Amino acid sequence: MHNSRVPFLVLANLGLLPFAACKQEEAPPVVAPTGATPTTTPTSTSTSTPTSTTTSTTTSTTTSTPIATSTSTPTSTPPVPSDGMKTCTVDQDCGQGYLQCVIAPGAADGGKPAGHCQHRQNYHLGRPLVVDGTARMASYARAPVVSSHELEELMRAAREEHASVAAFARTVTELMALGAPLSLLQKTQAALADEIHHTEMTLDLITAATGERPVLGRLPAAVAPLRSGDDAAAELLVDVLRGGVIGETLAAAHAETQQKLATDAALRTFYGKIMEDEARHAALALETAQWLLRESPALTSVLAEETHALASGGSFETRTLVMPLLAVLA
Ligand SMILES: [Fe+2]
Ligand SMILES: [Fe+2]
Repeated sequence: MHNSRVPFLVLANLGLLPFAACKQEEAPPVVAPTGATPTTTPTSTSTSTPTSTTTSTTTSTTTSTPIATSTSTPTSTPPVPSDGMKTCTVDQDCGQGYLQCVIAPGAADGGKPAGHCQHRQNYHLGRPLVVDGTARMASYARAPVVSSHELEELMRAAREEHASVAAFARTVTELMALGAPLSLLQKTQAALADEIHHTEMTLDLITAATGERPVLGRLPAAVAPLRSGDDAAAELLVDVLRGGVIGETLAAAHAETQQKLATDAALRTFYGKIMEDEARHAALALETAQWLLRESPALTSVLAEETHALASGGSFETRTLVMPLLAVLA
């Protein structure tokens, strides 16, 4: 695993580190922000790799796209159901990275794929739209058939980016209900626009590789009841910490890895843009959390619970990336 620049990018977006330090190839030593507890260095020694593979043995595409449209061993790849979530029997079926094979009790069927690849620890790449504890995404109304891991990843990523648009839209109004300053509303609105752009960019890559542009369908959860009442601030803080601080940081780190693995200039540019934007969104989440904690000091108990949950249940890679950032809120 490489040294990630993402924690430094996030802190630079908060004005706690100079941007120049983030431009270095090797991550600089972490300097704990003023008032923060000592941080863990974001240098991992783990042997596991929190990335999804981007290598493909062959490509059958007739276009100039750098994305493989099929692999050399399509028969070994579990089928992809219409909702885009790959079926699986073991974690390895989901590739490397943040996905794991989740099998519902009683679903096993004679060794056939019975589970679905899902993100580990309920932490997602990017800001998910969470309603009733479940991340919601639109299915595709129309989509090309894809068989390479790279394209499956992009098909899933486009749905996640699309759902983030709704997540930020809801956050804008929830922040307004809590009396948030206009500066926070403006930054959240800008993040929403970023997610629309990310969705478009991802669909562009799929279109270039397949010749067919996927069409995202309805997302009824976008208009689910907003958080309100006495627990609204606490619930928003949980969402901001999990989906914003953790999810956006993981998304930035994932893009950073993909950028390093990419052999094509266009893909490197794509992932570079995603990395910078998601790191800025993680910084926005920290800023939002800081405001919520200032307004409601009693929410420190929520921060403590979420920090404990990450420390005890998060993967080594996630903890290494995110713990230094949560220290900003201490
Ligand atoms: Fe995004
Ligand atoms: Fe984001």
